[in-house]
Amino acid sequence: MDDALPKALPPEKSDPSEDWTIVLPRRGKKNRTVNKFVIPKRQMEVQLWAPIDLETDPERESKLKQKMDTCIKKFENSEFYRNLLSQIRNPDIVDKFSKVLGSEEKMQMVVYGIGSIESFEPPRLQLCLAILLQRSFDWIGGIELFDPIISLTESKVLTSLGCTVLSINEQGRRRAVKPTFFFMPHCEAELYDNLLEANWEVDRLNRLVIFGNSFEAYEQHASLCKSSAVTSSRKHVLAIRSFAEELGVDTFSDDSFRAFHGTSWHFFGPSAEADLQIIL
Ligand SMILES: C[S@@+](CC[C@H](N)C(=O)[O-])C[C@H]1O[C@@H](n2cnc3c(N)ncnc32)[C@H](O)[C@@H]1O
Repeated sequence: MDDALPKALPPEKSDPSEDWTIVLPRRGKKNRTVNKFVIPKRQMEVQLWAPIDLETDPERESKLKQKMDTCIKKFENSEFYRNLLSQIRNPDIVDKFSKVLGSEEKMQMVVYGIGSIESFEPPRLQLCLAILLQRSFDWIGGIELFDPIISLTESKVLTSLGCTVLSINEQGRRRAVKPTFFFMPHCEAELYDNLLEANWEVDRLNRLVIFGNSFEAYEQHASLCKSSAVTSSRKHVLAIRSFAEELGVDTFSDDSFRAFHGTSWHFFGPSAEADLQIIL
């Protein structure tokens, strides 16, 4: 994590006068060079991030790497994974992914909120799925990943598994400048809401796929709880329901249930900006 400057720039520039340029010295270089990146002013809560623990040891890393390798092998042969693969290969869902891809060949995968892969089984199973999907489908590009609780050991293992660990906390506000597959199992509702808000335009919403908590369940919960604080923190999640298609993921074994219960694929299809005015 020494070269922990952003490997991906989250925002797309719109009006440069609204942007802030951040200039950082690179650590560990004798002739100090600078890195510049730009964050739109509207997204100023985006924060630079580095793991809190600055220590790791090779033994701990290799133990976790072995644990992940074993988990991937086991998961690949699980009934849950085989079923999910056939769900994705169903012509109906293939068609939805093709629409999101448009003329692009690949869709970047952004993983938010994976949790601690060292401490808990559900985050490990979720990561196995992200990695196996990326290995199985050539239209899925690289994996970028962020969770503020990731340790340095986890970060190193994630990197060794081919993931790019982001060093800024985007607060879920990545704009889908290109087709993007957001892999967010069991994230907080506010993170989905931030993501939708940052992409609240017809073209952008059509360019993204979310694998995460059921928005239909959020809608049912909102109709029961009627708390204005709850509904206002999820207003984009609730408003998108009119232009969203949701396909649930089946979970039947205990392991897959803990890692994926209540999870759905979400595709969006507003056809005109006017459709999105309901939120204003
Ligand atoms: C409810 S936990 C789910 C963890 C894991 N996916 C699971 O199912 O056990 C939500 C996760 O979102 C992470 N999170 C919170 N804010 C985040 C942010 N701004 N970007 C990415 N992840 C975030 C938390 O640290 C936490 O690990």
